[in-house]
Order: sequence, then C-alpha cells, then structure tokens
Amino acid sequence: MDRTGESVSGDEMLERSVSEDHWYCSFATPNIFDEQSRNSAFYSHTMTLNYAEVLKDFVEKHSTGLTVAAVAGIGILGLRRWMAGGVCRSKARLDGKTVLITGANTGIGKVTAMDMAQRGARVIMACRDIPKAYSAADEIRQKTGNNNLLVKKLDLASLKSVRELAKYIQENEKRLDILINNAGIMMCPKWKTEDGFEMQIGVNHLGHFLLTNSLLDLLKKSAPSRVVVVASIAHVTGRIHFDDINLDRNYDNLVSYRQSKLANILFARELAARLQGTGVTVYSLHPGLIRTELGRHLFPHWSWWKRMIASVLMMIVKSPWEGAQTSIYCAVEESLANESGLYYRQVQVNIDFDNTTVLAKSLQLQL
Ligand SMILES: NC(=O)c1ccc[n+]([C@@H]2O[C@H](COP(=O)([O-])OP(=O)(O)OC[C@H]3O[C@@H](n4cnc5c(N)ncnc54)[C@H](OP(=O)(O)O)[C@@H]3O)[C@@H](O)[C@H]2O)c1
Repeated sequence: MDRTGESVSGDEMLERSVSEDHWYCSFATPNIFDEQSRNSAFYSHTMTLNYAEVLKDFVEKHSTGLTVAAVAGIGILGLRRWMAGGVCRSKARLDGKTVLITGANTGIGKVTAMDMAQRGARVIMACRDIPKAYSAADEIRQKTGNNNLLVKKLDLASLKSVRELAKYIQENEKRLDILINNAGIMMCPKWKTEDGFEMQIGVNHLGHFLLTNSLLDLLKKSAPSRVVVVASIAHVTGRIHFDDINLDRNYDNLVSYRQSKLANILFARELAARLQGTGVTVYSLHPGLIRTELGRHLFPHWSWWKRMIASVLMMIVKSPWEGAQTSIYCAVEESLANESGLYYRQVQVNIDFDNTTVLAKSLQLQL
C-alpha cells in the first residue's frame, strides 16, 4: 500500500518514491513506513537513492565552496610536496668509513647520523648535550643494528672544547671520511661564546672553522673524503660585518644569523679552492624549512597568535627526515665525487642562490 492506501507493487512503489518529494527520506523514523517499505532490500535501495539525491543537492547548492575547498586542498598538498623536496637515492655503503657529525643529538643531525649508521659507517656524534646524545645514539643503535657509534663532547661555543675533540680524534681515529658541520643556533639573544665572540658567528662558523682545519690532515689522509657544511638560504640577505663582526654596536639576532650562514658558504667555497687536488671535496647546502628545535630561542617570545600561525605552518614544512636529505646527498652521492665548493638545495646543486657575483659584491661593499 502507498501512503494514500492504494495497493501497489514493490517496484511501482519504488518508482513513485523517486519521483515524489522524498517523504520517507533518510531522516524519517522506520515506523512511518508501511508494510512494503519495511522490506529490507527495498528500504536500502530507497535509502541509497535518497542519499545520492541529498548529496547531489548539496553539491549543487555549495558548488562554489566545494570548488574553493578542493583547489585549496590540492594547493596545500602541492605546496607540501614541493616543500618536502627531493630524496637522496644513493645506495652507497659506508662500511669501513668514519663519519663525524656535529649536533647529532636532535633535528636533521640525528637523522643524518641514523642514515650514515644504516650505511654501515662508524659514526662519531659530536654533541653539546651528552645525555640527549646518548639517548639519540641508543635509538640509532636499535633502529639500524649498527653498534659502531661514538658519542663525544663538543661545545662549539668553546674553542677549548673544539680543540679537545680535535685532539682526541687525531690521536684515536685512524680515518675520517666525512665531516658534517651540522650543529647550529638561530636568532638567540645577544650572547657571547666562552672566547668572547657573538654566539651565532661563534657556534655556526668559528667553532666549525677551527674543527675542520684541525681535522684536515686526517681528512687528507683518508681521501677521497668530504666536508659537508650545513648552511641555510639566509645567507642571500647576509653581510659580513668586518668592522663589527660581533655586532656589538647594534645587535640584531636575524642579521647575526644571516652573517653566520654567509660565513658558512664563503668558508666552504674558499676551503674547496684551497683543497683542490687533495681528494678532499667540500659542499655547502640549504636543508629547507624544517620542523626541528632550531626556533627554540625565537618561538617562546612570540605572541600567542604568531605561535598559532607558526604551528599551522609547521604542518607543511619539512620533517627532519626530509630536511636531512640534502646533507645525506652531499655526504654520499657518488656523482658528486668530483664537485667541490658548490651549494646544494632540494637534493641538487643550486646556482640561483650560489651567485658568485652577489657574494663577491657582498664582500667588496664592505672592504
Ligand atoms: N630547521 C630549519 O628550518 C633550518 C633551515 C636552514 C638551515 N638549518 C640549519 O640546519 C642545521 C641543523 O639545525 P636543526 O634544524 O636540526 O636544529 P636543531 O634541532 O636545533 O639542532 C641543532 C643542533 O645543534 C646543536 N648545537 C647548538 N649549539 C651548539 C653548540 N654550542 N655546540 C654544539 N652543538 C650545538 C644542538 O645541540 P643541543 O641539543 O645541545 O642544543 C643540536 O644538536 C643548523 O646549522 C641550522 O642552521 C636549519
């Protein structure tokens, strides 16, 4: 029976239901259905048809909103994919080789150490925070099965600490195949290193400068060997303040970070030139924008709304694994064996931001 009391067949009822105004739509309770509509096959068919109708209706009514949401979704996915950058595909093994990584207890340094261990290297984790370094080393041992890891103390804000580590390595290690200058500090307050240098130039550049130069003999002895300098893209707007290297006159934490990262790139380039013919090659790189602890001196001072926007943006920036790919590439990729002094980004060489003229100008302007 239909709702007027007329007796109709199931098929006829179904046909009518589609053309009528959905009086038994999905929101109706089952007890309003008559005898035939309680037939379960009929009921589910009717419900399906009505869901389809409701959906079609919804899409028609909200077509603009849905198009905007779809375009935004695809855009965010595309941006996320682009931000992620490339992946180092090299299958190079590092059995019998030694890799030293600074700042390997967290962030991209830890992921890089994990990758080197996975490839069979002896990994020396040169870190400031030793308990944190031990726990990172335990995790790396567990995940890679490589027990050939050594945690050593290194505070780049102390030239004494740098010399002590270099001495230990010179006296106790037979070889050094890859040195990865990864540790870094960004936009901290106006702090000084133990030796009186402004903190960012001290840690990011001067400490690594001394460490690298102290280990050059061992690197040369182990050639072909590599020095990887984890820089940034911040150097593009950087200047070397030769007349006020510690920015004592007018400290600005961003100006200081940029200066230190420009120093990283200039150092890598000059070192490469000086090491020509020795079998030691040098690479500098920008790892990308990554979710790590690098913003630790910055974010706590931001207002709540800035932090809220930053946490949303954090969802699209690189993971530490993605961020470590260019460092790993520079450390192991076989095709880079004869390249030296270049700048890499997104797992490839990058000439746009390694512009000799710009760098030269940035120096000349102040000389
Ligand atoms: N994250 C990014 O978006 C980004 C972008 C461009 C460039 N970078 C560069 O990538 C490198 C790695 O940074 P990250 O993002 O992995 O940051 P992170 O998570 O903060 O790691 C930095 C590492 O450097 C160590 N470090 C800081 N000061 C040190 C000191 N005085 N002596 C020895 N080690 C010290 C830290 O050790 P503690 O744990 O003991 O502090 C930590 O292991 C840095 O050179 C950074 O400038 C990062």
